Amino acid sequence: MALVNYNEVLNYAREHKITVGAFNALNMETAQALISAADKMRSPLILQTYHAHVDYAGADYIRAIADVATRHTDMKIAMGLDHGRSYEQAKSCVDNLYTGVMIDLASENYDFNVEETRKVVALARGKGISVEAELGMISDADRSLEEIAAGYTDPVMAKSFVEDTGIDCLAVSIGTAHGIYKYTPKINFDLLGILLEEVACPIVVHGGSNTPDEEVERMVKMGISKLNVGTDFFNAYKRAICEVFETKGEDADIVEIMAAARKAVEAVAIHKLEILTKFRV
Ligand code: 13P
Repeated sequence: MALVNYNEVLNYAREHKITVGAFNALNMETAQALISAADKMRSPLILQTYHAHVDYAGADYIRAIADVATRHTDMKIAMGLDHGRSYEQAKSCVDNLYTGVMIDLASENYDFNVEETRKVVALARGKGISVEAELGMISDADRSLEEIAAGYTDPVMAKSFVEDTGIDCLAVSIGTAHGIYKYTPKINFDLLGILLEEVACPIVVHGGSNTPDEEVERMVKMGISKLNVGTDFFNAYKRAICEVFETKGEDADIVEIMAAARKAVEAVAIHKLEILTKFRV
């Protein structure tokens, strides 16, 4: 099946009361693992690439891998840039036919964030490509709970941001963070409820790794549309490689190493998708 844009998978999610997994892939093995998990769980998926991984691998390579991986399932799959750092980076992904791009200028002032996001929306819209942006600051998970809470998304600003930019989905800061948490995350479910009520477009939660399953389940039930997960996959990948190497050393076959990494990522993805599709209708 050909890649679809974010709106197609987000509409599917709304209709079937699931949350779409937006899972980070970096190479062939991670893409294969994530697509295979989506296929086994009969779930749509957004395969996305972190901005630094686009710089590392090249938007054209990643897009080509996603294209082939997508032919191995009949589920709806979208392909996105995650935390795009600039209009130029978003454009390089648009030019390489990504089907969704995130422009993340949440650390800049509101007006600049609006202005640049609008430019990306204007670029992508005519090509049927979806746009995600962020308001409030989603921190790294090694920050204190107070620092994470200081970045919470303001619902009034979020409402106008969506109206001012015309984006397709909004990433919000409600207590999750990127990476492995130093402290148990404290999700502000009241704030999430208000944002779901006030904001006109689908709500995206980042920092899905290491977030307790019950908390993810609660956010799914409340109606978040997209959950981003990255670190849990990459850690499973690294751990599997180390395990094979520790047992076999340099005698380990390269295929055995890569296959173990792929299998480990798939298992984590299946577990995440079980939660994200738990209330499917
Ligand atoms: P984690 O790496 O914490 O899962 O966060 C992923 C993410 O939010 C990517 O945008």
